[in-house]
Amino acid sequence: MNSIDLKRQADTDYGTPAKTAEILVTLEIDGVAVSVPAGTSVMRASVEAGIPIPKLCATDTLEAFGSCRVCLVEIEGRKGYPASCTTPVEAGMKVRTQTPKLADIRRGMLELYISDHPLDCLTCAANGDCELQDVAGQVGLREVRYGYQGENHLALKKDESNPYFSYDPSKCIVCNRCVRACEETQGTFALTIDGRGFESRVAAGQNEAFMESECVSCGACVQACPTATLTEKTVIMMGQPTRSEITTCAYCGVGCGFKAELQGDKVVRMVPWKDGQANHGHSCVKGRFAWGYATHKDRMLKPMIRKKITDPWQEVSWDEAVSYAASEFRRIQAAHGKDAIGGITSSRCTNEEAYLVQKLVRAAFGNNNVDTCARVCHSPTGYGLKQTLGESAGTQTFDSVMKSDVIMVIGANPVAAHPVFASQMRRRLRQGAKLIVIDPRTTEMVRGPHYEADYHLKLKPGTNVAMISALAHVIVTEGLVNDAFVAERCDTQSFADWKAFVSRPENSPEAMAAVIGVPAEDLRAAARLYATGGNAAIYYGLGVTEHAQGSTMVMGIANLAMATGNVGREGVGVNPLRGQNNVQGSCDMGSFPHELPGYRHISDSSARAQFDARWGVTLSPEPGLRIPNMFEAALDGSFRGLYCQGEDIVQSDPNTQHVAEALSAMECIVVQDLFLNETAKYAHVFLPGSSFLEKDGTFTNAERRISRVRKVMPAKAGYSDWEVTQLLSAALGYPMQYAHPSEIMDEIASLTPSFAGVSFEKIDQQGSLQWPCNEQAPQGTPIMHVDGFVRGKGRFIITKYIATDEKVTQRFPLILTTGRILSQYNVGAQTRRTENVRWHSEDRLEIHPHDAEERGIRQDDWVGIESRSGQTVLRATVTENVQPGVVYTTFHFPESGANVITTDNSDWATNCPEYKVTAVQVMPVTQPSAWQQEHERFTREQLELVRADS
Ligand code: SF4
Ligand code: SF4
Ligand code: SF4
Ligand code: FES
Repeated sequence: MNSIDLKRQADTDYGTPAKTAEILVTLEIDGVAVSVPAGTSVMRASVEAGIPIPKLCATDTLEAFGSCRVCLVEIEGRKGYPASCTTPVEAGMKVRTQTPKLADIRRGMLELYISDHPLDCLTCAANGDCELQDVAGQVGLREVRYGYQGENHLALKKDESNPYFSYDPSKCIVCNRCVRACEETQGTFALTIDGRGFESRVAAGQNEAFMESECVSCGACVQACPTATLTEKTVIMMGQPTRSEITTCAYCGVGCGFKAELQGDKVVRMVPWKDGQANHGHSCVKGRFAWGYATHKDRMLKPMIRKKITDPWQEVSWDEAVSYAASEFRRIQAAHGKDAIGGITSSRCTNEEAYLVQKLVRAAFGNNNVDTCARVCHSPTGYGLKQTLGESAGTQTFDSVMKSDVIMVIGANPVAAHPVFASQMRRRLRQGAKLIVIDPRTTEMVRGPHYEADYHLKLKPGTNVAMISALAHVIVTEGLVNDAFVAERCDTQSFADWKAFVSRPENSPEAMAAVIGVPAEDLRAAARLYATGGNAAIYYGLGVTEHAQGSTMVMGIANLAMATGNVGREGVGVNPLRGQNNVQGSCDMGSFPHELPGYRHISDSSARAQFDARWGVTLSPEPGLRIPNMFEAALDGSFRGLYCQGEDIVQSDPNTQHVAEALSAMECIVVQDLFLNETAKYAHVFLPGSSFLEKDGTFTNAERRISRVRKVMPAKAGYSDWEVTQLLSAALGYPMQYAHPSEIMDEIASLTPSFAGVSFEKIDQQGSLQWPCNEQAPQGTPIMHVDGFVRGKGRFIITKYIATDEKVTQRFPLILTTGRILSQYNVGAQTRRTENVRWHSEDRLEIHPHDAEERGIRQDDWVGIESRSGQTVLRATVTENVQPGVVYTTFHFPESGANVITTDNSDWATNCPEYKVTAVQVMPVTQPSAWQQEHERFTREQLELVRADS
């Protein structure tokens, strides 16, 4: 997809949404025969036939409303002038869109609108991008007989409270598009039309400022507004964009397509791409507005080196920095063996970049010491789904949820972490799908405008596996298994073993209710609903994986879906909600120490032979070190060098003090990042990273959808990340010679069976591709396991509940669990450097009123949180969203030290940390913890060491 001229040519707006009926209806519009699916509006049929009809209140992302009366047409045999946007087509209909009478009426309507509108077009921010202006031109409006009372509205006060968009009521034509966008597209219902007649205007909340209302700043209303009433502040400041480029959001695993609209290489605004197959033109506050970090003054744009972390940083050329890193790595290997160094790939970087880093480690370092941040989030998904279904990925498209009758959300809060998908899910819930939420907290998912969970199973943190076995017990013992599906699709012996296991009385809801903390009758009712309510889909998040039994729980989920036949078609499935933009991709690309790209085990000699031949090396068959093992090895002196691209392990990994000790023990840490992050404070070489706006490549979202990332501006520090990895590899004596990331993808495709049919060219043609994409599925695979499981027969695995070692005691009587918030993203490195801090400027500890009162803690008090690992201090939010005995925090700010408290406990199969269960005590305090004071001092010192050189 090349740049398109945006100046006057917006995407075609068909006026009303497309219909998918199979029956085609043929009609005649201005003498042209048109065939469209039944249910299509006359307006859409007309635009599809190349005959535009003037319109104001209609747009094809929203259902027709019929209020502006500008789109009137004449229909043979019908009285009057029906609105084309609300009139469905009928066979044989004869429509006329252009007659003198229609022209007259339309001009009259426009005359009324314009008389009530300030005519400051020349200085208006929407000049050149205003539908009112366009339609006035289309209908040939030349005079306004009623005067220009719109001038009066100029006195109306603008609402500038939102940092990203402005609301100027004087320009509102009361078309209702924003109200409908907030309801239909976003599902927040924050807007209404207030007042009557001439005085009516849009109002947020209870006639409040946008920032005071329930508005979540998704921007759908801004996009829907046909005038300058709701406008991005960047457009007001900079003017209209002149070119655009299609790319993919670099925040969460939804992977929204965006049109980056620019002036030269300056981004004016990010507009969700209507043809984006993951988001269909919608976005959240992060993707649409929080991109300012890319040009933030904190960006580090010069390579730097230093011998010790107490030395000042020294700015050097790229050549010098890369040669120094390479010579240090080789020195360490010469002295301590080739396994003494390793690398970490980034789930924020592109597939091509992750592939290159693992290639560098395996081919140039000569070992398999490569890991990725998926280790700390979804590694149990990879393991659990591979064991049961045969592929380490979710089974569905996002759109599949529109065919679900029952939606089960386990340990995930998509409203905060996957907002665009949450909007789609909530749309389905408003249509009547049933909802089961399994979460210790009352999240925004539990109830929203016009829906409420049928069951909220508020379990105790750490009891997921007991819960899934209890649900399975009900399904098996009450005869709710889909026997035909199991007989045809699953492994008989493993099913029989599993059935016998879950049927045991000790797995019954009654036996487990006290452990889980949920009444047995609720467990039974939820299990029955899942098994018998029609198409049932499971969506899960880190509340499933980040546990000592994370992998067991993933397998338990797959067992449940197989037993009820809820796999292999639309509306069902097992769907991990991937956190970061490219966490699926970084795993696909061979970022784990035991797996080559495409999840082939490193011990598989035939897979290795292909890579050996292509890369010209002999790969080691031994799995390398995982991240936690790297830390252990650093502390025992056998691991001394690390190349860390785009991941902040000091902030994101558990037990911060342990991580810091391990890094302090290393001799050469190379950090490649946008900012001097927490990990960079322990680094010896800093290589400036590039943002998603500065590179070409691909991201793979939670649906296995590979989408293009396109460079819209030159790399600020001179190189995109993939180029830097190439430089380092060359300096290590293993040159890689890719001229463009498309060549890297070609290599990936040639070596990875599930990517065999993927190329930049094909992605450009199709918009995106879901892997597997190969000879059997040349257009990609939207739904997996349709005719059979990837592994052949689906395999049931016994999921015995083992209580975590992390026990509550008198000393640590509460359980701390963690999560995210809508406006911030992970370690916050990006979102903290945007206006999103206006919504969330600090991490807080949520505590139940009962627990707060017992400890004398009031709203906003400073509280100390102590675990077996460490202590930190946060302010308290007293809320019933958490249950008694459970406290909760987010982890977006380094100074919060959320991971100072989390422990080294981890998933038995994958080492994914048990972030979701930490036994703690909480007490009122008056000063920051010792760790926080030391963190502040260390941060100051490190910043001084940067400044010393500048
Ligand atoms: S920004 Fe989004 S949530 Fe806020 S009013 Fe507009 S559509 Fe509604
Ligand atoms: S704010 Fe914009 S979209 Fe909303 S009613 Fe007014 S003109 Fe229409
Ligand atoms: S939902 Fe995720 S991918 Fe989409 S705009 Fe928001 S952060 Fe970006
Ligand atoms: S566009 Fe049809 S009535 Fe407004």
